[in-house]
Amino acid sequence: MVRKAGRTGEAGRAGGVVRRVGEVEQVEAAGEVNRVGKAGALRRTHIAALATYVPPRVLTNADLEKMVDTSDEWILQRTGIRERHIVDRGVATSDLAKEASLAAIAQAGLTPDDIELIVVGTTTPDTIFPSTACLVQHKIGASRAWGFDLGAACSGFTYALTAASQMVASGAHRHALAIGADVMSSIIDYQDRATCVLFGDGAGAVVVSALDGRSAGDVGIIDFAHEIDGSGGPALCMPAGGSLRPASRETVEGRLHYVKQDGQTVFKFAVRKTEEICRRLLARHGLTPSDLNLFVSHQANRRIIESAAARLDLPADRVVINIERYGNTTGATIPLALNDARADGRLKQGDLVLLASVGAGFTVGAVLVRWSI
Ligand code: ACO
Repeated sequence: MVRKAGRTGEAGRAGGVVRRVGEVEQVEAAGEVNRVGKAGALRRTHIAALATYVPPRVLTNADLEKMVDTSDEWILQRTGIRERHIVDRGVATSDLAKEASLAAIAQAGLTPDDIELIVVGTTTPDTIFPSTACLVQHKIGASRAWGFDLGAACSGFTYALTAASQMVASGAHRHALAIGADVMSSIIDYQDRATCVLFGDGAGAVVVSALDGRSAGDVGIIDFAHEIDGSGGPALCMPAGGSLRPASRETVEGRLHYVKQDGQTVFKFAVRKTEEICRRLLARHGLTPSDLNLFVSHQANRRIIESAAARLDLPADRVVINIERYGNTTGATIPLALNDARADGRLKQGDLVLLASVGAGFTVGAVLVRWSI
């Protein structure tokens, strides 16, 4: 049973368990958690598998020193980045997403035909159309899936995860793919030292599945919070190539098909909003940051993550930072960070994990997860 937030009394009388999911409440009557197709029934969902992919070629700070007026020392001190992976010409976002998706599907013990929905959070689709979701569907052979791209910049993964999870929770689908994938090198100006040192290419995919009542326990995707603030648009954007300023000789000569940003405005907004949204989501569940086992934020700059973590009073051992190896891969940073934490043994089954992101738009997101695999 699902009702608008704030009306919990009836659920209590019905004897079910009330779970707030985003702006709705989820009521699970005992033994009735998982009814596919029942109008209004929300099921518990979880991340059933996680896989990532980065292209093999590495672009180091030393390489960038030869391209623009910068230094390894400046990049490391100001951003925390040592190297990033970059695609070879002809390799696109759907190619990276395909590798991550096939690995995630196999890890879940599924086949591509089991996937019913593909949501791709990306800022660098292969083409404006067809969507990257269509290309991924074809490349992995997910013959029963539908899907779409989702534009939320650096919040692409948290938004895709929420969208996929809610579609599974609704009972519409049993298994969905949520993908964060970007080839940022395709929209970066390698003559602009203020941006070209920051970004890399990569992909992450998770299989989001319904949990049945027996195995649910208290694991799974617990809740989400998202915001957008369009007043921040000019601070981080690609000025041309859309309907406002289609490609022309002037836009190309003006180098307007590249990422432009006001770094300090983005930096300050990211720190402030990360803290705000995390505290808001946790408070909804009577939790504080001290209840978290792991904080996995979007990796835009080591100093942004450390400042946000300090505001949340989180000790370093609960904060995942892997930006030194990948740079900012936009949609892929959070799955890459989760995967590294899992490989290091820092992320374990039963851990309470908070994912958080801020991106161009501005977009803001947080997803609270009790890790289940
Ligand atoms: N190498 C050497 N010097 C540089 C470089 C470079 N690569 N880039 C900039 N500088 C210089 C500037 O020209 C400036 O020189 P000046 O003082 O002579 O004018 C000086 O360094 C300081 O520049 P600032 O922009 O003030 O440096 P800041 O400490 O703010 O760091 C940075 C810049 C790294 C971009 C930072 O603002 C940042 O990370 N902002 C967040 C933006 C971001 O991550 N956006 C991407 C995605 S959005 C998201 O994910 C939230």
